[in-house]
Amino acid sequence: MTRPDSTSDPVPASARRVVLGVAGGIAAYKAADLLRKLVEAGHDVTVVPTAAALQFVGEPTWAALSHNPVATGVFEHAEDVPHVAIGRRAELVVVAPATADLLAKAAHGLADDLLTNTLLTARCPVLFVPAMHTEMWQHPATADNVATLRRRGATVLEPASGRLTGADTGKGRLPEPEEIARLAQLLLHRGLGLPSDLTGRHLVITAGGTREPLDPVRFLGNRSSGRQGFDLATVAAARGAQVTLIAANVEAPAPAGSDVIRVSTAEQLRAATHTAAKSADAVVMAAAVADFRPTAVAASKIKKSEADPSPVQLSRNPDVLSELVSLRAAGELPAQLVIVGFAAETGDAEADVLTHGRAKLARKGCDVLVVNAVGDGRAFGRPDNAAVILDADGSETEVSLGPKTVLASAVLDAVVYRLNR
Ligand code: CTP
Repeated sequence: MTRPDSTSDPVPASARRVVLGVAGGIAAYKAADLLRKLVEAGHDVTVVPTAAALQFVGEPTWAALSHNPVATGVFEHAEDVPHVAIGRRAELVVVAPATADLLAKAAHGLADDLLTNTLLTARCPVLFVPAMHTEMWQHPATADNVATLRRRGATVLEPASGRLTGADTGKGRLPEPEEIARLAQLLLHRGLGLPSDLTGRHLVITAGGTREPLDPVRFLGNRSSGRQGFDLATVAAARGAQVTLIAANVEAPAPAGSDVIRVSTAEQLRAATHTAAKSADAVVMAAAVADFRPTAVAASKIKKSEADPSPVQLSRNPDVLSELVSLRAAGELPAQLVIVGFAAETGDAEADVLTHGRAKLARKGCDVLVVNAVGDGRAFGRPDNAAVILDADGSETEVSLGPKTVLASAVLDAVVYRLNR
């Protein structure tokens, strides 16, 4: 066991005790990045690698990145009873990567090493992040084990799709460390696992900001980063939903477990949303859709010498959210479709943020409106957000400033409430 000098790097009192279990898969190297992110977030992380994981990434790497001793076996420092102590004191256990073997052991309560012992003694939320070859993920044995773990309250992510260890591609990649760290933040905030209450539901989520071209190189755009929409997709998938994520100009990699449709303009977003909504249980319009577009788009780059300095002519874009409400009323979308809008408001001389939000909910006719205050560096591109969730039935839920995954979860609570009533 490596014992770095703990006095040089005191753990702050606000630090949460996180166990990072690492099973033996090639994706163990990505867990080092996840570890760095958890430590940067201020958490006190104890890494518990399996013997197989240590074949991929050695103990010094885990010790150096965690600033903590690395727990490798039940018989090391037996006087501390590590097979019980580590799990008992944990506030969150994240297993990344979780191999098919590790999921099988966890599902059956086996305890033949320190990580599986820790999983049996932990009473905190547990997040399994599977990574394996597609065939192993799709095998009925793995599917049954995942279902068992979810039924018991553990959160088991869907793997991401893409390039696997060899030349093959498919479902089985470890989701991005950033995405895992953001979910970990939500679980720590809740102190509970995520419910699987969106299982069997299809959610359409729009994210990002549309761009309306002026010519082949210039556009009118906005400052939406797409983070809130991507977090909604991450949390919805973790709660069991089938997610179609319509992403307008978002740089971040696709969240695991979502089908991503990349669009750029409001018109493209509108077409993709209308199509996807036909088979959806809910549409969450988190995207910042441009209200106007340049009336004429130049076929080639507008030269300074040719440019007309007079104002650019704009045409109004359709309001996608309002259209969804009208299509539902006309019977062209499912009658039970839940429609959620977002309103970024600044407040002005006439009314405050919430008054504008209530008026917008009535104007747009959607079921739920998530109102957040923007401006002064709030919301856009930041990892945290605060909002009031307005339901058309008059109820209002305030979500105080916190990670965007926390707001995402609260918005999904509002969707579930509507779906089940
Ligand atoms: N929205 C949309 N289509 C548009 C503009 C907005 O579907 N052309 C959706 C957004 O995705 C969001 C909601 O409408 O869910 C609110 O957007 P916002 O821009 O705040 O509403 P506007 O009606 O444009 O109101 P404002 O006059 O305040 O800009």
